Amino acid sequence: MKSFYLETFGCQMNVHDSEKVIGTLEERGYAQVDTVEAADLVLYNTCSIRDKAEQKVFHRLDDNKRTKNKIFGVIGCVAQQEGEKIFERAPHVSLVAGSASYTKLGEMLVQLERGERRVTGLSLDTEDTFETAVTRRDNPHKGYITIIEGCDKSCAYCVVPFTRGPERSRTSESVLREAQGLAEQGYSEIQLLGQNVNSYRDPSAAGWNFAQLLEAVGQVDGIRRVRFTTSHPRDFGKDIVDAIDRQGTLCNQVHLPVQSGSTRVLRAMARQYTREEYLMRIGWMKSASRDIALSTDVIVGFPGETVEDFAETLSLLDEVEYDSIFSFKYSPRPNTSALGLEDHVPEEEKSRRLTILQEKQRAIQIRKNTALIGTQQEVLVEGYNSSTGQWIGRTSQNRTLNFVTAEQAEKARMIGTYLPVRVTRAGPNSLVGECAIPV
Ligand code: SAH
Ligand code: SF4
Ligand code: F3S
Repeated sequence: MKSFYLETFGCQMNVHDSEKVIGTLEERGYAQVDTVEAADLVLYNTCSIRDKAEQKVFHRLDDNKRTKNKIFGVIGCVAQQEGEKIFERAPHVSLVAGSASYTKLGEMLVQLERGERRVTGLSLDTEDTFETAVTRRDNPHKGYITIIEGCDKSCAYCVVPFTRGPERSRTSESVLREAQGLAEQGYSEIQLLGQNVNSYRDPSAAGWNFAQLLEAVGQVDGIRRVRFTTSHPRDFGKDIVDAIDRQGTLCNQVHLPVQSGSTRVLRAMARQYTREEYLMRIGWMKSASRDIALSTDVIVGFPGETVEDFAETLSLLDEVEYDSIFSFKYSPRPNTSALGLEDHVPEEEKSRRLTILQEKQRAIQIRKNTALIGTQQEVLVEGYNSSTGQWIGRTSQNRTLNFVTAEQAEKARMIGTYLPVRVTRAGPNSLVGECAIPV
């Protein structure tokens, strides 16, 4: 029996790609193991979004450079970006393959098994992007579905267009077939994935846009929750908000990365929208009849960001009152146009801004979460934390709501069910509650 170890870095798209890679490997007779030591084949599915993320894989490879009798492979975004240079830097690596080549993983494995030392899959020629048949999903209740791959934007700081190639959408028929298949297997939550789901264009005759696809997925029998990620503000239409308002199965949660509150910085980032245009989209969501939770991504210290620009990002947080944010220090990346900009913000100043931003947001989250005390929320039960004795639930708004039940309940029976929970306490990042019915 051949065995493999796989470690995944990066975004949900990488997590889902790993599920496809695992499916392919298992189909070819490989068994997954938990340690590098126990594996014949060691794979790292890598992320290159910031320098720190990229360095992780090189640390892992360094740690294992004297390991004998194993095949090492680097796949994902660093593989696509660095290509054959990885063989120079880490000569014990035998496979370098980007995400667009996973449909050919079977052939690459045959080459490796024959003892070839430098196998590559680096073509971004993406004809059969969505052909991978077998997916070994990690979670039996929540399933990811890729609807669009790649990205045609060229944000000045971002490697994704280079690591994932040009945008290509999958047919609505194939997406719906996968959604129905998941529902039949007992999945009740679906997350639609893409770097920019809003620019989805059905390549088949139906010609649906994203809002139409989203609503149709929300109508699949057995599906109770649909989420999607990520949205680009420029392509985010009001029809998406209308669909969420009409269709209760679409979660009342939208992640809309802003990056900066300053129009001047947004222009330098080539984001293709102004602060006002962004806020107009937030306005659509705030005037919806459902209470839509909002989250975002922010980059601090982009080249040329002044203290005034940063103050505009802070004021945007006050204005929008996000339910959560992901915030990062700008990290210069290979191939990107921002490398050519001047006025790099010093590292300590970036750290200072990041801390201020995160403290402000923490206060906003405490306030917003505290306002939920006393309300009843429906949660999907995702797990049990034996150290706290609490069940872990997630609300439609994507909040973690840890809760207790009046009586002891059995794990197998609880996980994957939907329960009403009354919120009793709130922290900055999660809520605590009590299940409102006997279980
Ligand atoms: N497709 C998504 C972004 C994926 S990357 C979108 O358009 O929103 C996730 C986040 O990483 C980005 O939103 C951005 O905030 C951050 N990011 C991307 N490149 C970065 C860089 N060079 N430095 C710091 N943060 C970066
Ligand atoms: Fe990167 Fe911009 Fe594309 Fe998002 S939209 S993946 S930030 S280039
Ligand atoms: Fe990272 Fe690639 Fe995702 S760079 S964020 S794993 S698309």
